[in-house]
Amino acid sequence: MDAKTKNKLIAAAEEAAENAYCPYSGYAVGAAVLTGSGKVFCGCNVENASYSLTVCAERNAIFRAVGEREKEIVALCVYSAGDRLPYPCGACRQTLAEFCDDAEIIVAGKDGSKETTLKKLLPSAFR
Ligand code: THU
Repeated sequence: MDAKTKNKLIAAAEEAAENAYCPYSGYAVGAAVLTGSGKVFCGCNVENASYSLTVCAERNAIFRAVGEREKEIVALCVYSAGDRLPYPCGACRQTLAEFCDDAEIIVAGKDGSKETTLKKLLPSAFR
């Protein structure tokens, strides 16, 4: 991925994190997905008093894309200002696998970012 696209995705995910609804964990996460047509869709985590209904930022961003008929995802960026880089949880990895063969994944925080791929984070994905 070129540096311009990478920076655009990180900026979009960071901005999305500002909308996080996380009164229980206090952990704000933002995500941005890049689709095959070049569009970017964002999402934040939305928590719930019944905890288990919480939805992660990544799935919110993916569902927004798919809701606009953008069913091919080529890259995902996750941003959190927390101490550790925000690698996507297992449920989000599996959800992403539904909409790509492989995808570039950027995990970003206040001190920098790292790049990986879905194939590395979810080998032998169930499909
Ligand atoms: N969270 C995400 O948004 N993405 C992940 O991949 C892992 C966790 C959110 C869910 C919850 O609101 C908070 O982070 C703490 O777990």
